Amino acid sequence: MKICRTIPSLVEAISRAGRQSIGFVPTMGFLHAGHLSLVERCRQENDLAVVSIFVNPSQFGLNEDLDRYPRDLERDSALLEKERVDLLFLPGRADIYPPGYATYVSVDGLDAVLCGASRPGHFRGVATVVLKLFNLVHPQRAYFGQKDAQQAIIICRMVCDLNLPVQIKVLPIVRDRDGLALSSRNIYLSPAERRAARHLPQALTMAADLISRGVQEAAVLKKAMAEEFAKDRLIQVDYIAVTGLQDLVDLTLIQPGNTLIAAAIRVGKTRLIDNLILGDLSC
Ligand code: PAF
Repeated sequence: MKICRTIPSLVEAISRAGRQSIGFVPTMGFLHAGHLSLVERCRQENDLAVVSIFVNPSQFGLNEDLDRYPRDLERDSALLEKERVDLLFLPGRADIYPPGYATYVSVDGLDAVLCGASRPGHFRGVATVVLKLFNLVHPQRAYFGQKDAQQAIIICRMVCDLNLPVQIKVLPIVRDRDGLALSSRNIYLSPAERRAARHLPQALTMAADLISRGVQEAAVLKKAMAEEFAKDRLIQVDYIAVTGLQDLVDLTLIQPGNTLIAAAIRVGKTRLIDNLILGDLSC
């Protein structure tokens, strides 16, 4: 695995690789099995597998965890080496945002709801860095996790609106044995918080059960999920949403093939998200 720490070295390594199909997995590191499922698929479907690790400051709010975001580059590199990744891109902040940097991508509307409502500017930072990385790596395919469903929806919108020649593949959520979706931030949870966090996947399982029993009303699903969250005093609900899969507009009734059921909760200082989709997010 070749490690590129600067933009010129990445550009050179990509052009040297020739006209092979390029698959790309952008990450912020501290890799878990969810990331590795993306890397594995990227490896299977492309000649050249490229991964980036960059903790992107522009997607963190002022009071968020940029400085304490978990990092373990040595372990990440060993995992990626084992997955037979060809190129690992490790830019520094000044490579991506040099002095005078002034250009940002906003995916209007989609970036202001759900997670965007409590994390203003977050998706602007995500869209900006993902577009920059696409422009450097030139992937034919890029891989994202369904856990960040709104991120995937926003990236698909950007790819479509800006005619970017890349296919976005969104792969299923990978869960721990207790059902919690894998996330680099799970490391922040104390044992009691971890127990509380389990209500998040449980609420979604309950919604799935209700749907399989014929429930279609979004209000009924949201109420059942809220009741599940109310079982633990450590949980503060940020949002519970039932929306269309592409436009993120609230639904009254679920639509088979076009529904996102998503929730965000705070457990202590940690914000957790999870979702269930009826349909496909890839584009
Ligand atoms: O999902 C993430 O880890 C990040 O939002 C991404 C896509 C790597 C952009 O920084």
